[in-house]
Amino acid sequence: MTDMSAQLVLDVQAMKKYFPIKKGFLQKTVGYVKAVDDVQFHIRPGETFGLVGESGCGKTTLGRCILRAIEPSSGSVLFRDREGRVRDVMQLEAGDLRAIRRDMQLIFQDPYSSLNPRMTVLNIIAEPLVCNGMLHGAELKERVAHLMELVGLNSRHLERYPHAFSGGQRQRIGIARALATEPKFIVCDEAVSALDVSVQAQIINLLQDLQEKLGLSYLFISHDLGVIQHISNRVGVMYVGKMVETATTQTLFASPQHPYTEALLSAKPVPDPRRKSNRIILSGEVANPANPPSGCYFHPRCPYAKDKCKTEAPGMRQVGDGHFAACHFAGELKLKGASGL
Ligand SMILES: Nc1ncnc2c1ncn2[C@@H]1O[C@H](COP(=O)(O)OP(=O)(O)OP(=O)(O)O)[C@@H](O)[C@H]1O
Ligand code: SF4
Ligand SMILES: [Mg+2]
Repeated sequence: MTDMSAQLVLDVQAMKKYFPIKKGFLQKTVGYVKAVDDVQFHIRPGETFGLVGESGCGKTTLGRCILRAIEPSSGSVLFRDREGRVRDVMQLEAGDLRAIRRDMQLIFQDPYSSLNPRMTVLNIIAEPLVCNGMLHGAELKERVAHLMELVGLNSRHLERYPHAFSGGQRQRIGIARALATEPKFIVCDEAVSALDVSVQAQIINLLQDLQEKLGLSYLFISHDLGVIQHISNRVGVMYVGKMVETATTQTLFASPQHPYTEALLSAKPVPDPRRKSNRIILSGEVANPANPPSGCYFHPRCPYAKDKCKTEAPGMRQVGDGHFAACHFAGELKLKGASGL
């Protein structure tokens, strides 16, 4: 058994995911996209940890690595399972991994493409229970009907197909499916981004109600700062594969200590027609994770950069109670918090 503070449900250490870049006829590896590069953070029971950052900074990759939906390059993921045992998800063999997946689930981004159009709602929600051999026959049907009611769907509709439901209802189906195995921890990856604003609010309320009722912990990934501020207890900010700041939601929004967080908070949200929510657009180019700048990755865009920033990579330093920032000058700069969010 592995050690972890009793106050944690998840403890991610030194997580890395490097995607090889292959070229030529022989598909030689010529470099790596460092999508997640030495990330550490933790989540407490019943807590929502919000993860924010510009597109391509590694949020989805990190979420999937934690569940081993994709295989991380290295790192450890300590997780407290339903029996209270602490397991390193990274070390589990196939059988144990399948068992622990009942406790850790994923809610997908797009309720339109993530549900199989040829399966009934009954079969979609029942699938994780069938795969795990947990329930059969009438018991299975009863459980699915209960899950549908739990997420605010009419259980008489369980023989219908996904196309008969609206976007918000489909996301409820996705949530019911994620809840089927009674997990303790759920990764919500842009779970409301594809929905209309009014529907977003309903789904967020549902996620919060379920959290309270079932004692769930969430890793809530979003590029929408308003949503992140509303739902999270603590927030992590990612930039080019690295976690650059973590703090309680109130502290992060009121007094950020990393210039990248300040830039995110000051950016005007730009409506994204692909997703119904707003997109973060900052001035300057996001660094390329296959060929990041020297020193602090943010230095080419940072208004506070000094010579040291071009050569030395800053480590995480503590700047307050539970507040960490990876900037050489964290705690010394006078940075602006959010206004009007
Ligand atoms: N399978 C893959 N092979 C190679 N590179 C990948 C793969 N998946 C992701 N990447 C790269 O890893 C980086 C991080 O991508 P990721 O999807 O995790 O970002 P994200 O923060 O979730 O972005 P978004 O906000 O757009 O969803 C990007 O540079 C992306 O191009
Ligand atoms: S280390 Fe330097 S470049 Fe990086 S965020 Fe801090 S001030 Fe800016
Ligand atoms: Mg993503």
